[in-house]
Amino acid sequence: MERYIVKGGIPLVGSVEISGAKNAALGIIAAAILTEDAVTIDNLPDVNDIHVLLNAIEDLGVVVKRINAHSVIINASTISKLRTDYDPIKKIRGSYYLLGALLGRFHKAEVYLPGGCNIGSRPIDQHIKGFKALGANVGIEGGFITACAESLQGGHIYFDVASVGATINLMLAAVLAEGRTIIENAAKEPHIVDVANFLNSMGANIKGAGTDVIRINGVERLHKTEYTVIPDQIEAGTFMFAAAATQGDITVKNVIPKHLEAASSKLTEIGCRVKEFDDSVRVYCQGKLRSTKIKTLPYPGFPTDMQPQIAVTLALSSGISIVTETLFENRFKYVDELIRMGANMKVEGNSVIIEGVQRLSGGIISSPDLRAGAALVIAALAADGISVVEDVKYIQRGYERFDEKLKSLGAQIERVSSDRDLQKARFLLNAV
Ligand code: EPU
Repeated sequence: MERYIVKGGIPLVGSVEISGAKNAALGIIAAAILTEDAVTIDNLPDVNDIHVLLNAIEDLGVVVKRINAHSVIINASTISKLRTDYDPIKKIRGSYYLLGALLGRFHKAEVYLPGGCNIGSRPIDQHIKGFKALGANVGIEGGFITACAESLQGGHIYFDVASVGATINLMLAAVLAEGRTIIENAAKEPHIVDVANFLNSMGANIKGAGTDVIRINGVERLHKTEYTVIPDQIEAGTFMFAAAATQGDITVKNVIPKHLEAASSKLTEIGCRVKEFDDSVRVYCQGKLRSTKIKTLPYPGFPTDMQPQIAVTLALSSGISIVTETLFENRFKYVDELIRMGANMKVEGNSVIIEGVQRLSGGIISSPDLRAGAALVIAALAADGISVVEDVKYIQRGYERFDEKLKSLGAQIERVSSDRDLQKARFLLNAV
């Protein structure tokens, strides 16, 4: 079991290169199996969830040529089965995109029920509603979702909730369907636009991605393409909050500043300076930050995936802040860990009330999920003394070389896999 050992209290300073967006890349990899042609994808993040999905499509018979850590060529002309039973796929959320892609191309699919971070009940009723609107029969049996159709016909879907996963899945299933599909109350996240742009570059006809209404005219076939995944706005936001919490000065590079506006405006509001450039954003903070109220919302609102990171920052800001989570009911599991580090906060319903403290102190803390894990690393970097962050496997699902990138900003952080290495690192960090 890998852990991070962190010596905190050092402002992070410097610049950091942001990787490709995990949640866009998952949709794009699944979309690549909609054609028999070879598809090249660049700027994939080198993270565990992406490796699992690539392995899962290989298990279906797809040929995946790994050009380097961030580029692959996918050739899905050789698919030999329509049942995704590669075991590790159970653990990731993006597995559900194979359902839309296989259904779209072969009119039949069987996929393990999706896993992913345990941040709430995470139903898939909207995905199922969408597939049914295209004429598919959908069932759940023995841990699998099955979907099949004689033929897929365009349909009109009004989603009850704006779901990222359901919107992407419906696009995947509808691009090769006969006729026109209209998705209303579609999610608008940047990764929806990225998957749509990728599909359009393969010859699909999708209009309106990034708005509430997406219109898809089915085409007969999709063809080869070469595509670069957008930068990960959540990874970028995580480093921006790391700058704030450690009173540092970080420039996140290779980003689309527009995608970071929710984070930038909150950081400015609480007293950080934020400077936008064409493809980078600098965040620098000095002195006590202020409290605020914040509510997570679908894009362009403040992302749920950045909720734990802002909460850590507010735990060290003056005054009382309220952070309300509106998307997932189980996303405050980091709160108890922060309290053990000296934070003054308590969960009330779907909000956490935070009274800022002067300092946090290092401790042994455990990552409950991907984003909360990253937030706890930020807390450890800001805290006095040494912390051990356990269960970093969750962080590695979605952050590429997180410890190395932090180190390049001056962080004292070591990744260790044995108790012996932990003792050694503790000794060395104590000596710094
Ligand atoms: N929802 C339903 N029914 C559905 C689908 C969703 O009620 O059929 C509800 C959810 O319970 C939630 C809301 O709709 O309250 C939004 O969920 P959404 O479907 O948008 O989330 P998701 O597709 O399961 C993706 C990301 C998450 C991110 C959310 C919200 C992937 C693989 N995952 O999840 O990312 O938090 O969108 O932006 O794209 C992460 O990267 O750490 C992560 C958890």
